[in-house]
Amino acid sequence: MKKIALITSGGDAPGMNACVRAIVKSCLVKGIVPVGYYDGYDGMMNNRFKEMKTEDVVNIIQRGGTVLGTARSEEFKTVEGRKKAIESLRQNEIDGFICIGGDGSFTGASVLGDEMSIPVIGIPGTIDNDIYGTDRTIGFDTAMNTVVTAVDKIKDTAGSHHRIFLVEVMGRDAGFIALETAIASGAASVLIPEERSNIELLAEDLRSQGKRRGNLIVIVAEGDDAGGAKEIHSKLVPLMEGYTLRYSILGHIQRGGSPSAFDRILATRMGVYAVESLLNGENNMVVGSLGDKLHLTPIKDAVSKESIPDLEHLKIIKALKTVC
Ligand code: F6P
Repeated sequence: MKKIALITSGGDAPGMNACVRAIVKSCLVKGIVPVGYYDGYDGMMNNRFKEMKTEDVVNIIQRGGTVLGTARSEEFKTVEGRKKAIESLRQNEIDGFICIGGDGSFTGASVLGDEMSIPVIGIPGTIDNDIYGTDRTIGFDTAMNTVVTAVDKIKDTAGSHHRIFLVEVMGRDAGFIALETAIASGAASVLIPEERSNIELLAEDLRSQGKRRGNLIVIVAEGDDAGGAKEIHSKLVPLMEGYTLRYSILGHIQRGGSPSAFDRILATRMGVYAVESLLNGENNMVVGSLGDKLHLTPIKDAVSKESIPDLEHLKIIKALKTVC
C-alpha cells in the first residue's frame, strides 16, 4: 500500500484533528503517502486534496474542528458524483481509504470501496455517539463536558431566580448526550428520542420536585418526540401555573472546542489502528472501542444496526428525584 486517502465527513467533532494527525504520522512512519481530501466527499469529487506532511499535523492534536474541513454531500449519493470521486482517487493512485465520520459517511465509503475495489476503513467521529460497534465515538466526551459546563452556569441563574430550565442539547436521532449529561449535571428529568415523552407526566414530576420555587433542570435531546426545548416549553407553561420556566438551546457550541484528553487518546488510538488494519488487509470495517479494547465491525453492521443509550440510566435520574 503506497497511498492512503483520508477525509473527515459529516458533522465535525472535537478530536477529529487528533485522529488526522495519528493517521498521517502512522502513514509517514511506514513510508505511505497520506492524501487528505478537503471538505469530505466534496473535495474528493472536485479533486481538492493535499499530500500531507508532518508539518501539516504539527500542533493540531489540541484543536477543535477539522483542519481538512468537512461537509454533508448530497451529490456524492449519486452515481455521477461518485464517478468524479473515483476518477480523482484513480488519478492519485490511491490504494486505501480512511473515512472519519458518522454512519452516513460510512455508507458512502462502503459504496465507493465496492465501486472502485479499494479497501475502506471507517473511524467513528461524531458528538452524537450513535454508532453501532463502539462504546464511544470521537467527540462525544468533549461535547458532554461542554454541555455540563454550560448547564452548571445555567444552574446558577436558575437557582437565583427559582426557575425551571429546559436545556436543549444535540442529538437529532439519539439521546446519548442528553442522558449522560442529565446524570452529570444533576438534572431533575431528561427527554430522549428513545423513550416516548409525556408532557403531562413531566409537569406532574416537576411540580412534585420543585414545589413552588422551581430551580430544576430538564435536559431535552433536540430529536425528542415531543419536540425541542422551545416547543416543550410552550407545552409545559400552561400546565405549570405558579412556576417560571425558561429554555436554552446550546446548539453548535457543543461541536466546538479543544478535545478532552479522553477524545485525544481515543482518536489517536483509532487513527493508528485504522492504518494498521488497512495494512493487515482489512476492508469494509469500522474501528470501535468496546471496554477500552479496539476492534473492527463490518461497515454494513455499523450502518444498519441501531446504537441506543443505556436506558438503565433513566432509572438513575428517577432514583435521584428531589423529595420536597
Ligand atoms: O450529527 C451531529 C449533529 O451535531 C447532530 O446532533 C445535529 O442534529 C446535527 O449534527 C446538526 O448538523 P448541522 O451542523 O449540519 O446543522
